[in-house]
Amino acid sequence: MPQLTEVLLLLLPAAFWLCSLPLLADARRSLKPRIVASLGGSGKRFNFATEESHTVFYHEQGAETLLVGAEEKLYHLDFNSSAGLVVEFKAENYGNCKGQVNCKNHLMVIDKFNEKLLVCGTNAYQPTCWHLTQQTKNKTQYGPGFSPFVPDQNFLILFSGGEAFSTINKFRNNGKILRFHRISGKDTNLYTNDHLMEKPQFVKVTVIEQEESYKNKIYYFFREENQQKNLDADFTISRVAQLCKEDGGGEGSFAASMWTTFLKARLVCGYLSQKKFFNKLHDVFIVKSENWTETRVYGVFSNHWNFTAVCMYSIGNIERTFRTSPLKGNNKPLPSPRPGECLIGGQPTPTETFNMADSHPELENEVMPIRNEPLFHSHIHYTKIVVDQVTTTNRDYNVLFLATENGMIHKVVELDHEAVNILEIQPFQTQAPIQSMTLDSNMKRLYVGSSTEVVQVPLDMCEVYKDSCENCFLARDPYCGWHKQKCSSSLHYAVLQNIAHGSPEGKCDEVRRTLQLVSGRPPRDDSAISVPPFSRYFISCPVTSHHATYSWTQDDVTKLSCPSNEKTCFYHINNMTDEQYGKYACIAREGEVSQVVAEYMLLKAHGSVMLPYRWLVVLQIAALYLLLK
Ligand SMILES: *[C@@H]1O[C@H](CO)[C@@H](O)[C@H](O)[C@H]1NC(C)=O
Ligand SMILES: *[C@@H]1O[C@H](CO)[C@@H](O)[C@H](O)[C@H]1NC(C)=O
Ligand SMILES: *[C@@H]1O[C@H](CO)[C@@H](O)[C@H](O)[C@H]1NC(C)=O
Ligand SMILES: *[C@@H]1O[C@H](CO)[C@@H](O)[C@H](O)[C@H]1NC(C)=O
Ligand SMILES: *[C@@H]1O[C@H](CO)[C@@H](O)[C@H](O)[C@H]1NC(C)=O
Repeated sequence: MPQLTEVLLLLLPAAFWLCSLPLLADARRSLKPRIVASLGGSGKRFNFATEESHTVFYHEQGAETLLVGAEEKLYHLDFNSSAGLVVEFKAENYGNCKGQVNCKNHLMVIDKFNEKLLVCGTNAYQPTCWHLTQQTKNKTQYGPGFSPFVPDQNFLILFSGGEAFSTINKFRNNGKILRFHRISGKDTNLYTNDHLMEKPQFVKVTVIEQEESYKNKIYYFFREENQQKNLDADFTISRVAQLCKEDGGGEGSFAASMWTTFLKARLVCGYLSQKKFFNKLHDVFIVKSENWTETRVYGVFSNHWNFTAVCMYSIGNIERTFRTSPLKGNNKPLPSPRPGECLIGGQPTPTETFNMADSHPELENEVMPIRNEPLFHSHIHYTKIVVDQVTTTNRDYNVLFLATENGMIHKVVELDHEAVNILEIQPFQTQAPIQSMTLDSNMKRLYVGSSTEVVQVPLDMCEVYKDSCENCFLARDPYCGWHKQKCSSSLHYAVLQNIAHGSPEGKCDEVRRTLQLVSGRPPRDDSAISVPPFSRYFISCPVTSHHATYSWTQDDVTKLSCPSNEKTCFYHINNMTDEQYGKYACIAREGEVSQVVAEYMLLKAHGSVMLPYRWLVVLQIAALYLLLK
């Protein structure tokens, strides 16, 4: 049991750290999800037959189906027809590993390779791949390097233009050193030298194609143990590494099967002036752009106290850093070609260049985020991220979907100088951590899976904003806007919206009716309530928007401002004296909009309410009589 003082000692720095950040009250509010909604009926879902502790998704953009690789089976889920099929993938030879824990075929990789669907699994410690056509499988020659031996291993695999790359060891007892390999496609398979990464945890890999194909690069994102052991250095350090995709290896037999263009740089995410850093990278999402230099990298990072931050980088900047930075610890002039430079025609890299890159693999310069600081940071522990781009009448917006530790999805809109958390979606019927998440940006859908279910979440869940014009504007959801008396999808209609400010700016012509729509009923005479004199009483109104401030007025005089973190705004009256009777209204203020969300008329009760009290006295006397008898 930790002592209270220990807990306090742990919490103190966190509190100071938080307080010292430039957080305005408004900014803090905008990072709380504005409203919370459960997916309910607007999502389609499948439940797994058994609990699946490890799943891998495969989804083609625009398709209706999702493939889910699991233990000894593959689920083929058609969300259009709601038909779910199971393709069995039993291990071929359990004799390999009788009695061992993972003596199963855990499917680990599903991807297109050379125009065919490839499914790879652990196959009872004998990694194997199958081609899958319709629902029939056919064993391939691929296996070692395509799937790890056990399901909980951290790895990356990349299929690109007939080549395959991975960080998976081909042999089970190959030691603990992890390398990045080219495993298929060219005559020579390449691997990274052993000293280049220190206990890496891989996060994401991608290929960036440039105008000239010999310059195409593989970038992979990972974190590793920090070699610097001074006091304020963090234990982990996050990195981006580069490799030329057409790397021809080095000169001489030893270097011929080595990647010669490996370089790595620190990915910085934090507030530099305050030296507050988020050093642990958890997930990366890449938003490709037609102009490769404008391709964006979104990273989710955390710090010691499990606060998370999202930082954005541009590939143009990453590429320039690799092309121009000095090498850390090197004070000799750089040879030509420069370390890390891609050579035309897959020529082998000259020994001098390779030796320099190999002995000084780290850049002196660090990769800085766009605008040199996080897009936002939060006390919520985010674990996964996907980013969609949505086009509205005015401009394009990037919308982030972040998975929380406890299985929620936060929808965050990226604006020019801030991020606004507009919605928390509870996707599952049974709350559980999100294991897999895939975006279909063509169909504007998100697929999320837990160990028991998979759901399809439409990105335009506009019905959650209730059909009030004011609320539809205040939602600031680029996928939704006001159209024909409804909060409608901007993907299908020319809608009215104001994402930048959330203000209706007089466009809600039926402002007067808003009141009725918000409270879901016409103004009622029965909001009049009789309350006995000198009694206790309370009235309440629901807090639906966490970005609004709620207050109670009595006869238009403000009586109480509610704390922003409560679910309900209560007004307690301890003693109904004469001056307490009157008209009460609960007002929600958000941006430039004020709305009455609840209204009550408290009237003095006379005879009718006193009657039950008299009956009570009669009953008490009767009870007393019975007791004494
Ligand atoms: C979805 O299902 C409907 C009815 O079952 C069918 O008409 C339609 O073609 C299907 N769409 C796709 C894209 O499969
Ligand atoms: C399965 O693979 C074998 C050998 O690669 C090939 O000859 C055969 O045609 C394949 N079968 C199917 C159904 O693709
Ligand atoms: C790509 O974008 C960069 C930076 O915005 C710009 O300098 C460059 O001219 C663009 N290239 C093309 C081919 O449009
Ligand atoms: C941070 O989160 C991780 C993963 O959920 C957990 O194991 C760890 O204990 C947390 N650390 C703190 C300081 O809360
Ligand atoms: C309520 O107010 C009245 C009038 O001020 C006073 O006589 C009475 O004692 C109060 N009752 C309570 C429970 O405080």
